[in-house]
Amino acid sequence: MSNAKKSQVNILDIKGGCQLEGEVFVRGAKNTVPKNMVAALLTSDSCVIKNIAHIVDVDIMCDMIEALGSNVRFTRNHSLQISASSLAQMPLEQTWAFANKSRIPILTCGPLLARNGHAIVPALGGCQIGDRPIDFHIEVLKALGARIEIHDTHLEMFANRLRGAKIRLPYPSVGATEQVLLSSVLANGVTELSNAAIEPEIMDLIAVLQKMGAIISVDTHRVITIHGVDKLSGFNHKALPDRLEAASWACLAAATKGRIFVRGAEQMNMLTFLNAFRQAGGAFEITESGIEFWRADKTLKAMALETDVHPGFMTDWQQPFAVMLTQANGLSVIHETVYEGRFGYIEAFKSMGAQIQLYQRCLGQISCRFANRNALHSAVIAGPTTLRGAEIHIPDLRGGFSYIIAALVANGASRLHNIRLIHRGYENIIEKLRALKANIQEE
Ligand code: EPZ
Repeated sequence: MSNAKKSQVNILDIKGGCQLEGEVFVRGAKNTVPKNMVAALLTSDSCVIKNIAHIVDVDIMCDMIEALGSNVRFTRNHSLQISASSLAQMPLEQTWAFANKSRIPILTCGPLLARNGHAIVPALGGCQIGDRPIDFHIEVLKALGARIEIHDTHLEMFANRLRGAKIRLPYPSVGATEQVLLSSVLANGVTELSNAAIEPEIMDLIAVLQKMGAIISVDTHRVITIHGVDKLSGFNHKALPDRLEAASWACLAAATKGRIFVRGAEQMNMLTFLNAFRQAGGAFEITESGIEFWRADKTLKAMALETDVHPGFMTDWQQPFAVMLTQANGLSVIHETVYEGRFGYIEAFKSMGAQIQLYQRCLGQISCRFANRNALHSAVIAGPTTLRGAEIHIPDLRGGFSYIIAALVANGASRLHNIRLIHRGYENIIEKLRALKANIQEE
């Protein structure tokens, strides 16, 4: 079924109480493939990205690339071929089609400014897990010499040729770091970015840009230095596997007392997750082709957890992990330090019987931006609790997968609405759940 058809399927009925066992395959990460696709717009040469997951966020980027006058097509064996021999800003009214759908459009500024000196960006979308401002993006583009007009519904930018600059981010933002990489790589001169994000997805983008001819060094203390070049060539790259999806399946295995082999999962970009998973009573076996996850003993163990930027515990791992902790013995504490609104999914869990209390206080060691901002960004979870089936509306991508875990753990039947949000980042989620013997029915 195409993604377009999948995104029309919006309700999933799940019967709980079964142990999930079997194998799933994770391909290119939702949070790196679309950025690699944007990098392909920096050259008129042909580019190939392999290990592509057929997810909605990739489809959105394909549509954007075509709307920008370039070609993109899926080739055999889960690969994409992109050739941006021509790149033209789409008319303003056409940008609306991409407004409020994902965060990616703002990253097309770099290629558009480098090749045309002009860019228009619609209002952004993405999961509602906090304000998600773009002030860092605007500041770094101005620092690189872009003239920016801020309109109610879009940004318009102009630049003859961006110039290198010394930039320090107020927070190691993944998106803003990607913005600097994609905008400075063809700028005139050297850009030094301090307090940069260094997630594996950032390294994957740097690897792609290096293949294209860029000169980028990752120095100590989160400093990235980019030496602007005059031209970039095409690339052939195998996308990083999705460590966020892999961790979601791990939490599902432990929560349902099942056993799941995640083909494609790689230990090196999951080290922090694997440590926390083991501390919580999860078990795993690492092989060359993937990682198998299960619950080590009869019970899971409560623990204290704080999310942070890499190499800390990823904020995107937090939601599936929290569901797993509802099945752990004792009181667990989670301090979410990356997004102020990432516990929006908790209320629905409570309707399923979860014992979770949210706090505005920072319940952890990490000094956090939300300390005095009335943000419910710490949680205390009592377990183990018996969950009962419920009717739930999915709020965001990772919260959505967490509800699937909860529904599969719960006694009785659950009905999940807004399933299409999950297709944004989890390829073939229905087929994968069926392969693991989940009792599910689409509506
Ligand atoms: C990326 O979002 C990911 N999305 C997120 O994954 C991920 O949670 C996040 O990085 C952190 O790792 C994609 O890559 C498409 P940020 P991004 O800029 O780049 C604040 C998922 O579920 N901030 O690192 O938008 C921001 O509000 C998604 O796969 C500003 O204040 O994240 C947040 O508190 C969810 N101003 C913090 O920085 C800005 O201009 C981190 O955001 C930009 C960000």
